[in-house]
Amino acid sequence: MCTQEGFQAQRSQLVGLLVSRSLEGFEGVLDWLLSWEVLSWEDYESLSIVGQPLSHLARRLLDTMWSKGAWGCEKLIAAIHEAQADSQPLMLHELSDPHSPCPVHKLQIHRPQIVRRLYSHVEGVLDLVQEQGFMSQYECDGIRLPIFTSAQRARRLLDLATLKANGLAAFLLQCVQQLPVPAALPLKDVAYKKYMSKLKATLSAQSRFLSSYDGEENLCLEDIYTENILEVQMNVGPGGPRQQSPATVSLEELFHPQGRLNEDADTVLVVGEAGSGKTTLLQQLQFLWATGQDFQEFLFVFPFSCRQLQCVTKPLSVHTLLFEHCCWPDVGPQDVFQFLLDHPDRVLLTFDGFDEFRFRFSDRERHCSPTHCMPVQNLLFNLLQGNLLKNARKVLTSRPDAVTASLRKYVCKELSLKGFSEEGIELYMRKHHHKPGVADRLVHLLRASSALHGLCHLPVFSWIVSKCHQELLLQGGGSLKTSTDMYLLILRHFLLHAYPPDTAHQGPGPSPLRGRLPMLMHLGRLALWGLGRCSYVFSARQLQAAQVDAEDISLGFLVPAKTVVPGSSAPLEFLHITFQCFFAAFYLVLSADLTSSSLRYLFNCPRLGGSPLARLLLPLCIQGSGREEDSIRTLLQKAEPHNLQITAAFLAGLLSQEHRHLLAECQASEKALLRRQTCARSCLARSLRTHFRSIPPAVPGETKSMHALPGFLGLVRSLYEMQEERLAQDAVRGLDVGHLKLTFCSVGPSECAALAFVLRHLRQPVALQLDYNSVGDVGVEQLLPCLGVCKALYLRDNNISDRGICKLVEHALHCEQLQKLALFNNKLTDGCAHSMAKLLGCKRNFLALRLGNNHITAAGAKVLAQGLQDNTSLQFLGFWGNKVGDTGAQALAEALSDHQSLKWLSLVGNNIGSAGAQALAVMLEKNTVLEELCLEDNNVYDEGVNYLAEGLKKNSSLKVLKLSNNCITCVGAEALLQALETNDTILEVWLRGNSFSPEEVETLTHKNTRLLL
Ligand SMILES: Nc1ncnc2c1ncn2[C@@H]1O[C@H](COP(=O)(O)OP(=O)(O)OP(=O)(O)O)[C@@H](O)[C@H]1O
Ligand SMILES: [Mg+2]
Repeated sequence: MCTQEGFQAQRSQLVGLLVSRSLEGFEGVLDWLLSWEVLSWEDYESLSIVGQPLSHLARRLLDTMWSKGAWGCEKLIAAIHEAQADSQPLMLHELSDPHSPCPVHKLQIHRPQIVRRLYSHVEGVLDLVQEQGFMSQYECDGIRLPIFTSAQRARRLLDLATLKANGLAAFLLQCVQQLPVPAALPLKDVAYKKYMSKLKATLSAQSRFLSSYDGEENLCLEDIYTENILEVQMNVGPGGPRQQSPATVSLEELFHPQGRLNEDADTVLVVGEAGSGKTTLLQQLQFLWATGQDFQEFLFVFPFSCRQLQCVTKPLSVHTLLFEHCCWPDVGPQDVFQFLLDHPDRVLLTFDGFDEFRFRFSDRERHCSPTHCMPVQNLLFNLLQGNLLKNARKVLTSRPDAVTASLRKYVCKELSLKGFSEEGIELYMRKHHHKPGVADRLVHLLRASSALHGLCHLPVFSWIVSKCHQELLLQGGGSLKTSTDMYLLILRHFLLHAYPPDTAHQGPGPSPLRGRLPMLMHLGRLALWGLGRCSYVFSARQLQAAQVDAEDISLGFLVPAKTVVPGSSAPLEFLHITFQCFFAAFYLVLSADLTSSSLRYLFNCPRLGGSPLARLLLPLCIQGSGREEDSIRTLLQKAEPHNLQITAAFLAGLLSQEHRHLLAECQASEKALLRRQTCARSCLARSLRTHFRSIPPAVPGETKSMHALPGFLGLVRSLYEMQEERLAQDAVRGLDVGHLKLTFCSVGPSECAALAFVLRHLRQPVALQLDYNSVGDVGVEQLLPCLGVCKALYLRDNNISDRGICKLVEHALHCEQLQKLALFNNKLTDGCAHSMAKLLGCKRNFLALRLGNNHITAAGAKVLAQGLQDNTSLQFLGFWGNKVGDTGAQALAEALSDHQSLKWLSLVGNNIGSAGAQALAVMLEKNTVLEELCLEDNNVYDEGVNYLAEGLKKNSSLKVLKLSNNCITCVGAEALLQALETNDTILEVWLRGNSFSPEEVETLTHKNTRLLL
């Protein structure tokens, strides 16, 4: 039984259900409703308007059915079940008399079965009806439009037959009778089954091993895959662009409706920094599908890599893309293709590494024919938009910089890949090392070396640590701080591995690098050349042109590309793009032809004396810019900015004091290196200062605020790689902002280390806002060195737990400047309450503590209240969305009775009832400073309001009391009105969302405008 109320309550699920199976599925539901004559022809027409978003149509259908009463609601649910069951027997005995007086009616009442029987033969039937003169060429072409699936074409044919009074309906009935009865499930057909199993076998083989291994060990994906933090951006609430915290989901939930931003789009976007694990995530998805473990709602999965797709120069169609560039169907290719077109909702396409696609997204050219050939970029863009293979799912991965607003318009859901959690790092090490004690020692080493631990949050660094575990366990991790340190470590590892010292036929000398310099330079030149041409996969010819020979390849940094573009011999790619950047930097730093102008370009540094005239004259004055330099400069200019940033950071690291001796061993000219180092230093410092100078002046009366511009974090990272205190000091000399904002900037622990390294030299205190990043406990630890210059620290949504916060507080106790801490939506529990209490009790100038949306209960509130008792400075205390309950509220109220500074207290959504309200009322009687008390979304009821009203009668400081959503009736409101008669201080009492009728709202507002209803 389905009541109308029940139906209404399930509305959003029903919409989800109706849109989840694509337009095809929706029309299947309409077929059943028409056949049962639940929908009138008029209803049906209003529900089948071409071009309307499916979600609109689904809502309209719900409205239509609801207006028909409980019967209509029940029928809709039954139709959804029927359409999903998809197994209706195709017995059409009722049609046996084709000369029935009402063929149109017959077409309608057997519509689902007729559609099923027609859809594989619709082309032939269309030819036939045109031949017989029932339909014109024009009408047939309208039905054959490539945007329609075969089933949709069949429906349009039936619709036309309903409207035409020329005998078409009777003719169709006759045709349908003669059509062969299709198998109950189309998948029984050999062709699809064979294709599916071939695809599964191919993908299972392709995805079984991780590509980044050097042949020594078998990294089986199944053994090593470790869950990565995946966050989904949540829907914007109905009240407008209210920022909702992202939710963590597992890979298996990738296609769940949670977090859908655009119901009409089919593309799921996964963004993550270089090395955060995007490629591996897709590989795992493919593996789970191919081995039947998950994602079985898809019958076909087609994986593509953007770096390889962009090498395809021939025009492509959907047909050639799927069959020639992924998997060829050995049996019945046309049938298979038709099946894919007819069941797009059972197809998944994945496109990895959109940032490596050299074409920028554009929606200007539209194509909708799946057999039409077009340039590869048009094909990809039209697939992503859903012009081609509408309703087929697509997953696109990219680094954040490459995602534009115009691409986002076509994204149904956006997820961020944040790398490993702390537990993830540990688990990864344990999966990687089975020898007794090794994993334990590695985990211990990481915990003791926080910079290294911070780096490992990116899986690619965890991999490097694992790979070099022997060296690390021998030398300890404390000296490894920067990415350059890590890549030099692995470079040495590979060299020693390829040429063990004792077996070396030509001893590599004191440094393993020195003896292999020519090989490294070959790889470096190839890497730079590739970056400059946005080319990340190298053919044999390209390798030859860069003079990369078999011995260079044998070092292990170049590995066969995962999926081979047919027609070419197995191309190679670097282990990871970061290796390509590292080798490019290595080449640059040692290349005789790298000039200051290229260095300036890399570090984004404006030229001295950059007046327009100077800029005009300078190219004429530059001496000795040889061809090689021209080409280095050109390559750098054409490289993708994010790759350039990574390369610049490595270059800075290689030029650092720390590593100069290493390079000096490789190259004769120490003078040249010194010159480069000096140039890099001055470029970095100057770039950062220019960056600061570009910040607009403060609005009068406000602090000067800066949102990090693109490139800021890149510069800070490069400065960190240099590891020179004096340079950092010099670089921030000019920064005079009061508020530095780095929200949504993908700040992880390693960025925190870099920020702290640079910002700690600020001369003026700054409010540092790092909301919506992935700082985590390890990142908090990295930030500690700059806590001394922070007057406020905002860390909303950063996955921080008690452990991180306790460390932070321990440090904060000694930081005179720090006055505000905002920790909304982290993972805090009562476990951090002692630290917080200490902070409040001991830090005499502390002003604001915001702990909203964590997991603090009454026990934590009680501990915190003790800290409040000793506190004399706090002005803002935020507890929104915790679980302090009545007991917690009582403890806090007691501590606040004679508090001398607190102006604002939020206990919104804390399950506080009348007992809590009573304690707060007593507090109001005594307290003389509190100005705003927020108690929305609790269970105060009239009883609690009566207490609060009594408290208000004796209070003379409170200006705003917020009581929305507390089940208050007129009785409570009357008590408040009475209190307001004697209380002149209070300006607003918020009462929205309580139990008042519209008339009561009007009367109460009339009685006192300070009541906001
Ligand atoms: N979930 C995981 N479990 C185990 N290892 C992982 C995982 N994710 C990544 N790795 C390791 O880190 C390396 C880098 O990851 P991956 O290539 O997937 O990053 P990416 O985000 O695709 O980087 P890019 O932006 O450069 O394409 C992998 O080769 C693998 O060794
Ligand atoms: Mg990748």
